[in-house]
Amino acid sequence: MVVGSGAREHALAWRLAQSHGLTELHAAPGNPGIAAFGRCHPVRPDDAEGLLSLAVTIGADLVVVGPEGPLVAGVADELRKNGIPVFGPSADAARIEGSKSFAKDVMRAAGLPIAETLSVARAPCVVKADGLASGKGVFVCHTAKQVDEALRDVTAFGGDFVVEELLEGEEVSLFALTDGRRVLPFGAAQDFKRIGDGDTGPNTGGMGAYSPVPWFEGTDELVASIHQPVVDELARRGSPFIGVLFAGLMITPDGPKVLEFNARFGDPETQVLMPRLEGDLLQLLFACAVGDLSGSSARLSDDAAVTVVLAAPDYPARSDFAGTEIDGIAAAEATGALVFHGGTAVRNGAVVTNGGRILSVTATAPTVSDARDRAYAAVDLISFDGVQYRRDIACV
Ligand code: AMP
Ligand code: GLY
Repeated sequence: MVVGSGAREHALAWRLAQSHGLTELHAAPGNPGIAAFGRCHPVRPDDAEGLLSLAVTIGADLVVVGPEGPLVAGVADELRKNGIPVFGPSADAARIEGSKSFAKDVMRAAGLPIAETLSVARAPCVVKADGLASGKGVFVCHTAKQVDEALRDVTAFGGDFVVEELLEGEEVSLFALTDGRRVLPFGAAQDFKRIGDGDTGPNTGGMGAYSPVPWFEGTDELVASIHQPVVDELARRGSPFIGVLFAGLMITPDGPKVLEFNARFGDPETQVLMPRLEGDLLQLLFACAVGDLSGSSARLSDDAAVTVVLAAPDYPARSDFAGTEIDGIAAAEATGALVFHGGTAVRNGAVVTNGGRILSVTATAPTVSDARDRAYAAVDLISFDGVQYRRDIACV
């Protein structure tokens, strides 16, 4: 049973559906893309009781939780307490994403390279709200005026905030699966966070991604020096992390530094990792959930994958663009591209918009540049009123 309704969950479900051990695939609540091959149930991802009762009813052997909200709220604990294997961390372990100050404390204890914490907010610096903020609680300040604005805006999130050194460089997302003790490198991707071409405009959840990142090497060694110590430290504190640990890295002139950890798969990074995965996703996630990754291996193909997010006209200011008909999905799929649904619904038999990031269009090819060409060729076939997407995804 997959929990969530975005393109990330569609990509996970799509890959799980190819696993030999799969007998039935369910989703809560899922989306019209997942409904093409799995059963979707109208249960919200943060409704722990509803998820438990659904999991019991369908006899779920494994629950895979996609988004961070339910994890931070303790959905995995509720299921696990009732004997259901879950891929996804406990609320305590998910604090590595849910609280910036907790994350800093763990990263410091684990001896990781991180941005220095500053005692006063003076430009250049970064001001961050402490809790979950869907990527909107971080203010990168180059000037004194930006610092003033950030200090004003961050209070809107309530609670605490942290101030840290501003790091410069390229960002990379680095993933590892973990059973609470062992870690298994699971690839790297680069995400395009800003809404506009050339990295302009406000931050979003992510407007596209590619994988592998050809210039980024030594990922296995980095997982050993970054993910493993965090997994060890969380286990030492009595909250072992089961699931996927996602490190947001800044590759600075002094080497990689950790910006943040997420307690889940990336969106849209998952839409480029899943098509590259060789082997059985279900076996891997189940092995994590039951605490025994020994003997498992994860291989990603040498092929490249590129995904382009088609977003609503008012995204990221709004994420509620509903009811506009979408044309051309089948034509795009006929090119061999994968069209993952992020925010769609079905109305009178037609697929319509229903969200902010509406679709993720993914293509694979031997090189990043060929995969990009194929992805954009498929994007060109899809249309809805007001569609907005970046034209420079994976132009690196
Ligand atoms: P976070 O939620 O901590 O990953 O921050 C979101 C985004 O803010 C990151 O992906 C970076 O683009 C940016 N960011 C966060 N921390 C820093 C930092 N110390 N220096 C520069 N940029 C940062
Ligand atoms: N794409 C970044 C994230 O999932 O947080």
